[in-house]
Amino acid sequence: MSILVTGGAGFLGSHVAVELLEADYDVVVADNYVNSVPKAIGRVEEITGKKIKTYGADVSSDEELDRIFTENEIEAVIHCAGLKAVGESVEKPLLYYKVNLETAIATLQAMERHGVRGFVFSSSATVYGENCPVPYTEDMPAGGCTNPYGWTKYMIERIAIDAAKTGKIDAVLLRYFNPIGAHPSGLIGEDPAGIPNNLMPYISQVAVGRREKLSIFGDDYPTPDGTGVRDYIHVVDLAKGHVLAIEYMKEHRGYEIINLGTGRGTSVLELVHAFERVNNVPIPHVITERRAGDLAEVWAVADKARRLLGWTAELTVEDMCRDSYNWQKKNPNGYGN
Ligand code: UFG
Repeated sequence: MSILVTGGAGFLGSHVAVELLEADYDVVVADNYVNSVPKAIGRVEEITGKKIKTYGADVSSDEELDRIFTENEIEAVIHCAGLKAVGESVEKPLLYYKVNLETAIATLQAMERHGVRGFVFSSSATVYGENCPVPYTEDMPAGGCTNPYGWTKYMIERIAIDAAKTGKIDAVLLRYFNPIGAHPSGLIGEDPAGIPNNLMPYISQVAVGRREKLSIFGDDYPTPDGTGVRDYIHVVDLAKGHVLAIEYMKEHRGYEIINLGTGRGTSVLELVHAFERVNNVPIPHVITERRAGDLAEVWAVADKARRLLGWTAELTVEDMCRDSYNWQKKNPNGYGN
C-alpha cells in the first residue's frame, strides 16, 4: 500500500515524502512540475535511500488519476498540489480557482471511484483572515480571506468536508502557519521561481548574495517591535504532522480541521536577527511600506494537533534559520532552473 502525494516535488510535498519514507510508507508522487522540478524527487531518494514511483501528471485529469490509482495500491492521498503565490492569485484569480479547485475535486472524485478514503489537505492559516482575533483556534468562523489563493483553500476545505459527510471520504484539513526551514541534509528546500514573495527565502537569498537587501514591509504595526508577527514552523515538523494525520485516519472516520503551528509568534525583525546570529551572516535590510493584505499578527493555538495527532513542533526558530541557510548555501540557485 502506498500514499499518493500530489505536488510531491514541491517544497512541502518533498519534505512530506521524506517523512513518509522514513516512517516506512511507500510513496507515489504526482506532480506536473509547474512550480517544481523532478530533481527534488531524486534528492528525496538520496536522503532516504528509497525509491519513489513518480508520475509527471496533472491531477486535474481523470485519466491520469485513474492510471495512478489503477497501477498502484493507494491507501490515502496527501494533496499538496496547487498554485500558491498570493500576489499572482490577485492578478490571475480565475487561473487560481480553476487549477486549485479542479485538482482537488478531481482527486477526491478519483478517490471515490477507487474506494480510497483518506484525504489530507494542505490548507492554510490564511483561511482565518481578518475576521478572527489571534491566536487562531480551529473552531473560529474562518472565511476572512484577503486574496483568491486564500479563498481556494477555504473552498477546498468546504468541498472536502461535504465529501466527508457522504461517509465515503475521511479528511484531515491541515491549516499550516508559516512553513520555513529545510531538510537538515540541505538536499531539499524552498526554491521559489523569480523574486521570492515570502520572508525566509528572501532572507536566505540576501544571505548568499543573490539579492542586495531585504525590504521589511512596515514597522508601524501594533506589535512589540512594530514589524509583522507570524508563527513560523519548521517544514520538517510540518511534514511529520502529515504522517500522523495518515495514522489518525486509520482509526477515525469523518473529518477534522487541525492547525499546524508552534503556538508562538516571531516578528520580522526577530527572525532577521535570529538568522544573523545563528548563521553569523549580515542581512542588510530597509524598512518600507506595509504590503497590502498583510495582517499585523498571526499565530496558532496548536493544542488540537497535540490532542488528536500527538503532534507538537519540536524545532526552534534557530533550527529553521540554520537549515534554511544550509539549503541556500549548498544550492545558491535552488535546484538550478
Ligand atoms: N515580509 C517582509 N519582507 C518580505 C517578505 C515578507 O517584511 O520581503 C513580512 C510580511 O510583511 C509578513 C512576514 O514577513 O509580516 C511574513 O510574510 P510571508 O510572505 O513570508 O508570509 P505571509 O504570512 O504573508 O504568508 C503566509 C503564507 C501564505 C498565505 C499567507 C496569507 O506563506 O501561503 O500567509 O496572508 F497565503
